[in-house]
Amino acid sequence: MRIGPHSIAPRVILAPMAGVTDKPFRVLCKRLGAGLCVSEMTTSDPRFWTTAKSRHRMDHAGEPAPISVQIAGTVPQIMAEAARYNVDHGAQIVDINMGCPAKKVCNAWAGSALMREPELVAKILEAVVAAVDVPVTLKIRTGWDHDQRNAPLIARIAEQSGIAALAVHGRTRDQQYTGVAEYDTIAAIKAQLSIPVIANGDIDSPRKAALVLARTGCDAVMVGRAAQGRPWIFREIAHFLEHGEERAPPSLAEVRDLLLGHLEHLHAFYGEVSGVRIARKHLGWYAKDRPENVAFRAVVNRAESAEQQLRLTRDYFDALVAGVAPELPAAA
Ligand SMILES: Cc1cc2nc3c(=O)[nH]c(=O)nc-3n(C[C@H](O)[C@H](O)[C@H](O)COP(=O)(O)O)c2cc1C
Repeated sequence: MRIGPHSIAPRVILAPMAGVTDKPFRVLCKRLGAGLCVSEMTTSDPRFWTTAKSRHRMDHAGEPAPISVQIAGTVPQIMAEAARYNVDHGAQIVDINMGCPAKKVCNAWAGSALMREPELVAKILEAVVAAVDVPVTLKIRTGWDHDQRNAPLIARIAEQSGIAALAVHGRTRDQQYTGVAEYDTIAAIKAQLSIPVIANGDIDSPRKAALVLARTGCDAVMVGRAAQGRPWIFREIAHFLEHGEERAPPSLAEVRDLLLGHLEHLHAFYGEVSGVRIARKHLGWYAKDRPENVAFRAVVNRAESAEQQLRLTRDYFDALVAGVAPELPAAA
């Protein structure tokens, strides 16, 4: 699959997730097989570009290409300016968020709420496409609610406006994250467009990825929540798509090493205090599927320093690797 000049291989993409897909996580997912990783949403409002949060979200130093940055907002010229600003700061693909269900994104009815206003959608897309020399992609849901599933109309507008690829999450806005994703609307969109279409929603295994690709005819799949605590899902999906068989899961020793590397990158990227705090949710996700990890989470969550967080994690996984019951201090 191609997005403008960029070849996206393998055809499995990390979904943008605010609070999750920061640079350390994107770099890790890319290394573990993602063909493309989309940044957390960045605000189009320039008043917020100098906050610590925005500076971290717009930091792409050392990130592998192609760097895809998501922007959100409602005013065409402001979105165009935000796109230019992000390209000046390293974006090689600009992604527009019309998929987020939050009531208010960036203090305005942005995100999927925009899908109710097709004329405004066209103006935003045209303004952003005209503003930058890099490809512009769009992410949408299937519509506002069950009776207003107008994604096929928005998809046609996207293609006419010069959008280079379209990602569709198979839920309506009012579903938020409830129910199950449906793929018929995505298949209908794919059938009517000539630009690449990316299927998203509830893809949590290599088999599901293959099934969704077959069912929709899409060019790639996008994975969000299933990658939390499981960044190696990308190489597992890529392997299954290429060979038709499952790849072995990572060994405990590999998980330990990946996790320690991820923690170190978080500490370095955010600084010790924020890095340790942000690392806790990742530790929780890495540990979520193992019953014995409940105690580990409780202890490691109390670690206040980077050194303590790394040591507890290393000791715990070392014990699991050695096949002995991990010793956990009553308090860290
Ligand atoms: C914590 C979280 C944050 C998200 N943030 C964004 C975002 O900033 N921009 C966006 O377009 N979608 C966002 N999404 C939606 C995801 O990109 C994706 O469409 C959705 O989770 C469905 O895919 P999944 O079933 O693979 O998780 C977010 C989802 C989650 C769970």
